Amino acid sequence: MATTTEVNPLKVLSSIAYQHDVDILSPEFAKIMDEMDPLRHFRERFTYPKNGTLPNTDKKLVDPNEECVYLCGNSLGLKPRTADTYVQQQLDKWAETGVETHFLEPLPASRCDQYGKEEMGRLVGAKPSSVTLMNGLTVNLHLLLMSFYQPTNARYKILLEGHAFPSDRYAMRSQAKLRGFDPDDAVIEVYPRPNEHTIRTEDILKLLEQEGEKIAVVCMSGVQYYTGQKFDMGLITKAAHDKGCFVGWDLAHAVGNVEIRLDDWDVDFACWCTYKYMNSGPGCLGGAYVNSKHNKRNTDHLHGWWSNKETTRFEMRDECDVADGVDSFRLCNPPPILVALAKASLEIFEEAKMENLLKKQFLLTGYLEHLVKTHFSSGQLDAPTATIITPEDTTQRGCQLSFTFSFPLKQIHKEIQKRGVVCDVRLPNAMRITPVPLYNSFRDVYNFIKILQEVFALCKTEGA
Ligand SMILES: Cc1ncc(COP(=O)(O)O)c(C=O)c1O
Repeated sequence: MATTTEVNPLKVLSSIAYQHDVDILSPEFAKIMDEMDPLRHFRERFTYPKNGTLPNTDKKLVDPNEECVYLCGNSLGLKPRTADTYVQQQLDKWAETGVETHFLEPLPASRCDQYGKEEMGRLVGAKPSSVTLMNGLTVNLHLLLMSFYQPTNARYKILLEGHAFPSDRYAMRSQAKLRGFDPDDAVIEVYPRPNEHTIRTEDILKLLEQEGEKIAVVCMSGVQYYTGQKFDMGLITKAAHDKGCFVGWDLAHAVGNVEIRLDDWDVDFACWCTYKYMNSGPGCLGGAYVNSKHNKRNTDHLHGWWSNKETTRFEMRDECDVADGVDSFRLCNPPPILVALAKASLEIFEEAKMENLLKKQFLLTGYLEHLVKTHFSSGQLDAPTATIITPEDTTQRGCQLSFTFSFPLKQIHKEIQKRGVVCDVRLPNAMRITPVPLYNSFRDVYNFIKILQEVFALCKTEGA
């Protein structure tokens, strides 16, 4: 498969179609792409939902025994097959040994948060000691902001992107309020220009130039949940540092999806969830990163017994013997059942390797983009159309493409669900479609397009 140095996926796809003398729009092309895909076997490592078990399929329209078209990894990744075994091991160990489960392999409960540091570290470009699995995403965002958001009257603002995921916005606003600032003044949001869908990097840089000295923390999403836009994390981090701000990234939609180099970019802190591209199950443990240059910044936030150094934790001291860096943010003893779920997925990432996933993603999402543009951007007045609002520039996106439609979104969603497509819609007006290179095929994308064509024809006939 192609390397990511090529910037236009259509060029690569067209050249493969030409070499095989097939039409890029044909099912044969999807078949050839799947046959050439070195990652195709990873699909079998996941339990892929069937049409028959999904609640919204119309059993008259689909074969219940066939796999659905799952394009929702941006929201919830699929279950790795090994998850059952790893969780069962923990339940059995607990059942058979009671409290000894704290000390017995695999994943001894008292040490299970040591697992994943290397594997997660590789996915976010960080030293293992700068990364930990703990809590959930919003909790981690608060814990990190408690430390890094130290507002003064001169520098008290927080910058995030406009239309950020509500939890992030609530977190920033409540942090500002907690410190005695008016959130409407303290939290600045940068929006797309009128009639544009995504935020221009130059507008972020301009805002930093103008307001940077008043900004305490820049804390944006690495990949925007609604539009799928990937921000230039390295450039923005540098520009914000030049103005003296701390920089944190919410990597919920970025981890396992795009290249991340937290140490190289000199990011101050980051956090993420593990249930989207990381496939660890709903509400599973979050991840957190603190740059090792802040290792001694450990006195100005909340502590619990798990913030204590591992070596002295069970001395039960009156004063916390605070661990270095990110480990000092841990409060509670970790849940091995959840770490077992994260492990099932991290092992697959270790085998598949992020660089290979990125190569496939470039083509798979590019293929989706090409088919959508070809089939659904008709110039005819009454023909339903789909518009992609995610950037065309492949350096500014990951797996996800977000669409708006000229026809009612809800109706289209309902009809494609009936036919076995799993994807989601987000208010006010976007459908998110995400082919994930670990378990999606070119055939899935092809099938999605066929179903969408059928549904568009139906909408047109019914005059929706
Ligand atoms: C960008 C972003 N931030 C925060 C959250 C909230 O996550 P949690 O409920 O794990 O705290 C989500 C959940 O999807 C998200 O996508």
